[in-house]
Amino acid sequence: MAPKFPDEVNVFLVPHSRMKDLVGTYMDQLSTTDFRSNGALEHLLPLLENTFTEFKSHEHIENQYIMERLKQRLKLVDVTSQSVCNCHGDSQLVEILNLLRDGYTCTSKSISERINFGSQLQKAVSEFTKQFIPHMEEEEEIFQPMLMKYFAYEELLLLKQQVIQQHEFW
Ligand code: FEO
Repeated sequence: MAPKFPDEVNVFLVPHSRMKDLVGTYMDQLSTTDFRSNGALEHLLPLLENTFTEFKSHEHIENQYIMERLKQRLKLVDVTSQSVCNCHGDSQLVEILNLLRDGYTCTSKSISERINFGSQLQKAVSEFTKQFIPHMEEEEEIFQPMLMKYFAYEELLLLKQQVIQQHEFW
């Protein structure tokens, strides 16, 4: 369980709450969609595309507003920043977005092809989710304490405000 930090300076709290809600929603959508149905697939694809585009945007905001600033701060205080890894470097999200775009071609294909696509999509999303939840926990358990250590309280208040403003779901 992630350690408790004051909510007002916890930069991950609000965006991760949103990301976890989205995970719950797409797990439901994927488990209830009947991939034999053209209409169900046409309904599902844009929902998932929006969700995974939002995840990509979340990564981008974290890179720009949190990880980059943390790296710069560590450099300033002469602490090695190796632990601030390139934690958004893998391409799983891009692969899922590409798969979803391919999915639109399935709406004109046979039932067996749509079922096959559904299995492929469920597998890819399941593999992503298995890594995404621990990834968020790592950010909360490793990077939030580092932020608390190397940034002033007022800086974190401002940083949290900026991070929330950048997420378009507000
Ligand atoms: Fe907050 Fe990198 O996901």
